[in-house]
Amino acid sequence: MKKKLKTAGLVFVGVLLVVQLIPVARTNPPETSPLQMPAEVEPILQKACYDCHSNKTKWPWYSGIAPLSWWIVDHVNEGRRELNFSDWNAIPPEKRAKKFEEIAEKVQEGEMPLSSYTPAHPEAVLTPQEVATLVNWAKAQERSLRAE
Ligand code: HEC
Repeated sequence: MKKKLKTAGLVFVGVLLVVQLIPVARTNPPETSPLQMPAEVEPILQKACYDCHSNKTKWPWYSGIAPLSWWIVDHVNEGRRELNFSDWNAIPPEKRAKKFEEIAEKVQEGEMPLSSYTPAHPEAVLTPQEVATLVNWAKAQERSLRAE
């Protein structure tokens, strides 16, 4: 019994070591058209959203360790695909208006930042004041884009 456990443990550690060899791309491509925003909004987006919705991700040390790395890289890639503040003008104005609408919605409802993110990033938990700042800004942006 003890021997079996030891073998299983060794196999487990072996597998963990081997999966470290699988390459994962933790990228930060150059920004093409960063969204311009007011001074009171920028620090909030930076601390709560940029890690997954910009090309300025701060990759923590543990994001280099498999299998956690696969999960984190996946989240960032998916986040960037949905919404990327670094390539903001890559999508047409009507789509940008829609994204602003969704930002207001997701922040208001507390769906963003993701709840799997905040335990390791307590500074990303938004105060009611910060939520109000983001929501008002996003709604005003949406309105002005729709008025164009
Ligand atoms: C840990 C990574 C992470 C963080 C941090 C994060 N997001 Fe997201 N976000 C995602 C992922 C992944 C998706 C796509 C899947 C989903 O909708 O849950 C997404 C989707 C969204 C969408 C939906 C886009 C669409 O068109 O459907 C919006 C809007 C959004 N995020 C806004 C924000 C805002 C604003 C913040 C900061 C307050 C934020 N997110 C923080 C990962 C993140």
